[in-house]
Amino acid sequence: MTIESKLPHVGTTIFTVMSALAEQHKAINLSQGFPNFDVPDELKRLVNIHIQRGVNQYAPMPGVLKLREVLAEKIQTLYRLNVNPQTEITITAGGAQGIFSTIAAFIRPNDEVILIEPAYDSYAPGIQTFGGKVVPYRLAPPQYKIDWMAFGKLITDKTKMIIINTPNNPTSKTLTINDLETLNSLTKDTDIIVLSDEVYEHLVYDHREHASVMRLPELFSRSVASFSFGKTFHATGWRVGYVVAPEYLMREFRKVHQFNVFSINTPTQHALADFLEDEDNYLYLSDFYQAKRDFFLSKMSGSRFSPLKSEGTYFQLFNYSQISDKLDTEFCKWLTTDIGVAAIPVSVFYTEGAYSDEKIIRLCFAKTDNTLEKAAEKLCQI
Ligand SMILES: Cc1ncc(COP(=O)(O)O)c(C=O)c1O
Repeated sequence: MTIESKLPHVGTTIFTVMSALAEQHKAINLSQGFPNFDVPDELKRLVNIHIQRGVNQYAPMPGVLKLREVLAEKIQTLYRLNVNPQTEITITAGGAQGIFSTIAAFIRPNDEVILIEPAYDSYAPGIQTFGGKVVPYRLAPPQYKIDWMAFGKLITDKTKMIIINTPNNPTSKTLTINDLETLNSLTKDTDIIVLSDEVYEHLVYDHREHASVMRLPELFSRSVASFSFGKTFHATGWRVGYVVAPEYLMREFRKVHQFNVFSINTPTQHALADFLEDEDNYLYLSDFYQAKRDFFLSKMSGSRFSPLKSEGTYFQLFNYSQISDKLDTEFCKWLTTDIGVAAIPVSVFYTEGAYSDEKIIRLCFAKTDNTLEKAAEKLCQI
């Protein structure tokens, strides 16, 4: 049988490749974005309690209601928006499923989707799976700032969706409310859906405010926002997140969601509902990670790597042009095999990886201070 691949250009992701290489060479793995410290003890205790009390069967398709209610309160407190937990919030299998199911619900063959690149690597394959066309808008380092005039020129009558991601993986830059207001004007009176990937909503630094689409009710009225408990509670392996959208969009999302996963891990949802009742359990996070960013930067200050400003996420970009002329993909392999630190080349976040000569790598600082110190020691020796 001959199979025509829907995704002929997709191979093993760079994250799998770099993690395997790191393992093989016993390198310190700062490549993939996950913490090397554990979930809070209290949250683990709560999951145990709910498993023991026997809530181990299917959860309701949109998610455990108590969790959705607590999330609606959190959204009201943080973003001053009233969302209906019954009809406007759905619990997902991590941010990834929320994003994929949103694309599945709305993208048809030949629809155009504007991606701001460098972009998280799951968007483009998702769009292509459903026959959509990726229209990249490319940002330039070191500022990675959107020129909205130029961006607006990419909008056509085929544009069905715009994907934004703030704080951004990999650039670690954040959008502002002004950016969202401009996006709102550009999409007003159109049928364009904004997919807003906000999985790092609680990782914003230097007193910045997270620019959620939920802060602008008019923009939210045509948006789907996606979140991840994995990022917020150091539990990337639990695969729990949620999407928030106005009812008419959520209705379509749920049609896909119910045949995609149907529902998500029940005891974890109950535990998260209890844990979220104390807002200190997530509001401390920016300070926690900002301290890690600053610790890592202080340890790297004696190196020949030049840091770019990290405004959010748990990623720090570095320019290595004072060290090597290698393309970033080659440089990252060398860093792993010869220096013992695994990193991710930023060029892989462009649909046409033609930017490998920008000489920028991404390092993840969601690691213990001990790991960060050891990695910095190795990097400073170059
Ligand atoms: C920008 C971005 N969106 C979505 C995700 C997926 O989140 P989750 O692990 O909850 O599926 C990630 C994970 O790295 C990410 O960086």
